[in-house]
Amino acid sequence: MSLGTMHTTDATLSTYVAAVRDLIDADLDAVATARRVEQLNTELIPLDYCVPAELRTEHPGVPYTRNLVYADADHRFAVVVLVWGAFRETRIHDHLNWCVVRCLQGSCFETSFALVEERMSEGHAEVCATGGRTLARGGVMGLVPPPRENMHQLANAGWPTAITLHTYGDPGTRARVFDPVTRKVDIVALQFHNLLP
Ligand SMILES: [Fe+2]
Repeated sequence: MSLGTMHTTDATLSTYVAAVRDLIDADLDAVATARRVEQLNTELIPLDYCVPAELRTEHPGVPYTRNLVYADADHRFAVVVLVWGAFRETRIHDHLNWCVVRCLQGSCFETSFALVEERMSEGHAEVCATGGRTLARGGVMGLVPPPRENMHQLANAGWPTAITLHTYGDPGTRARVFDPVTRKVDIVALQFHNLLP
């Protein structure tokens, strides 16, 4: 199995990525993988862990910055640091595969959504909020693949900056986004801001 690309020399993240890679090599199902990745976050990343400077850099003009930590050579997973300004939020989106979020600084708020199945048509979908939870510093949450618990909106719950670590069971470069007002559904390309020129 070929190694992917690390975009930091940080020892904690290097250890974490190696453990996730070993787990992915074991080829468990998505639910078991996500639950074990949640555990690895808690076991390997201390509560007082400080993200290295090169991954804390905020990109101007975007609601939140996505800095790539590691891209698997075989596109099986990716690890990304997100840096959020005060009360900044994602669009409502779902995931191609499992996803695990660890809050490293500040606090985050997740609103979960569900599709209103009978109101779907080509390119459009109605969504409804189904719950919410706060993720304090050190907290971890996992999402497993559709159709289970996989659609959400994530926000910085406070002021000023929140930092989260996202581990995706895919390259982390695409998301399906839902506009709750127009009901339009789009696939969007997601950037890694630390790789931009
Ligand atoms: Fe997400």
